[in-house]
Amino acid sequence: MKKVVLAYSGGLDTSCIVKWLGDKGYEVICFVADLGQGLGKGEDLEKIEERALAAGASKVYIKDLQDEFIDDFIVPALKANAIYEGKYLLATALGRPLIAKYLVDIAHKEKAQAVAHGCTGKGNDQVRFEVTVGILDPKLEILAPVREWEFKSRDEEIEYAQLHNIPIDVTKKRPYSIDRNIWGISIEAGVLEDLEQEPPEDAYMITKSPSHLSSYPKYIEVYFEKGVPKKIDGKSMKLKNIINYLNEVGGTHGVGRSDMVENRLVGIKSREIYEHPAGTILYTAHKELEALVLDRELAHFKEIISLKYSELVYYGLWYSALKEALDGFVAKTQKYVTGSIKLKLSKGTCVAVSRKSPHSLYKKELSTYGKEDKFDQKLSEGFIRLWAMPYQR
Ligand code: ARG
Repeated sequence: MKKVVLAYSGGLDTSCIVKWLGDKGYEVICFVADLGQGLGKGEDLEKIEERALAAGASKVYIKDLQDEFIDDFIVPALKANAIYEGKYLLATALGRPLIAKYLVDIAHKEKAQAVAHGCTGKGNDQVRFEVTVGILDPKLEILAPVREWEFKSRDEEIEYAQLHNIPIDVTKKRPYSIDRNIWGISIEAGVLEDLEQEPPEDAYMITKSPSHLSSYPKYIEVYFEKGVPKKIDGKSMKLKNIINYLNEVGGTHGVGRSDMVENRLVGIKSREIYEHPAGTILYTAHKELEALVLDRELAHFKEIISLKYSELVYYGLWYSALKEALDGFVAKTQKYVTGSIKLKLSKGTCVAVSRKSPHSLYKKELSTYGKEDKFDQKLSEGFIRLWAMPYQR
């Protein structure tokens, strides 16, 4: 019997896939990756396992990958300031290569011939899974049942699930397609497909509506060491706790929403909204600190790298040579990114109000217009003449 390892979420699609693949003659092993999507503990995890088994899985792996996700995916993206098309912090895109890596690992361990995922044929995630699996083990077969099965609608899937006693909770389902992890939430479909409509408040899950909040601000100080967040308000914390805390506080102040029309890899434009309070706070602080410690040429060049880096992540090319090489560049740039940025959160905004670093290149005696000025203005004349020389005929 052929074995397949399926990336299993516990939702309707992947539950139906277990049964569907079983009927096609596969032994199905389910893999649940905990990336901080709120799987809960104990009971909830047991429920997911039970559901997978009830749908026909022979075995279920559940792995808490949050620390690895943070250290090996989120931190490099943060150091690179990777943001897709100016708005998307790539939470979903960063998670896929990690899940795919474990699909491959488990497939090897279980001597499975194939891996499977529950992505549709229209999105980016199928590409990310399959490109990653293809890079890590080109011999593995990849199955994408949603691209080929007979169900035309969610209702048909529900019918199928009920017919085969696959436990599902349809009541809880929101009218959106949602992907969530510790770094952010991606929300699409339903009324969001109408570009002329403002997203309804109920579409957002962890951020309060900025317009309904009082403007009473919250100040937060983030301390970085070589580009990695280490302390909040002077207190050392594990990065996972920092992210969870900032998601909470940021969300309370309406920070970290984006509403965008993005260019998908498969050529479709789509409207999606995102929530990433911790990401917004940490990106803002990180960029402000870099503004202090990176020299001009490095700072400007790094922006070009950020752009390319974000594309590679979005395109599913996490395990590519170019991405690895860019990581090398980015790592070098973080040598002096140590210091503290204090931010003010208020009514959905997040701005820096105070900056300090032992490696700051800011020299007040040069920039001041006050009497402590040490800048020799006479030098500028010659500098400008030489600077302009190549352009004069
Ligand atoms: N558009 C985002 C991306 O391609 C998120 C995809 C998943 N979104 C969702 N709502 N299920 O990375």
